[in-house]
Amino acid sequence: MNIAVFCSGYGSNFQAIVDASKRKLFDANIAIMVCDNKGAFALERAKKENIKTLLVLKENFKTREDFENKIIDRLEKEDIELICLAGFMRVLSPRLVKRYENRILNIHPALLPSFKGTHGIKDAFERGVKVTGVTVHFVTEELDAGPIILQEAVRIEEDDARKTLEGKIHAVEHTLYPKAIRLFTEGRLKVKGGKVKI
Ligand code: GRF
Repeated sequence: MNIAVFCSGYGSNFQAIVDASKRKLFDANIAIMVCDNKGAFALERAKKENIKTLLVLKENFKTREDFENKIIDRLEKEDIELICLAGFMRVLSPRLVKRYENRILNIHPALLPSFKGTHGIKDAFERGVKVTGVTVHFVTEELDAGPIILQEAVRIEEDDARKTLEGKIHAVEHTLYPKAIRLFTEGRLKVKGGKVKI
């Protein structure tokens, strides 16, 4: 099975997925990394790992449709069966989501449906919750609202600072995402009525 990973920034989850695939934690090939930011460190990681990249800059396309067509063309050429969003800072259009229905995963740094959006760690920390965590879910048209595949809790201790919490969350992300990919590649995820059965 060919996987495409979509990134916009640092790419630590991309790296964790690549490392997991090298360690044969799942049986799939990271065929391409799609990136929408030319300054992303994730691009350097891909180069180092000899993984092909598609750099798509929104400003080079007239419409979002043109931008996504470029991506879809390449996904089709690479015979992609699974898309993993890993810090991709762009909302996919309903068309792209439909085209890959139940074949797009995302990782979110909080226990959804709490703390949706781009600042899941900061928002949970500032709210003062005692438990937060990580969610891997299928992507639907609605942001951070698709069927939940795996969740893992992370306790926020009184002596945690935002930075230490970030470290704990990222460490959990790096093991949880490969587990979800494994379940997907083994065909063990069944979506019914907005819920995932494993
Ligand atoms: C992660 O915290 C992920 O949960 C969120 O974006 C961040 C990406 O980090 N969606 P990285 O680029 O994988 O290091």
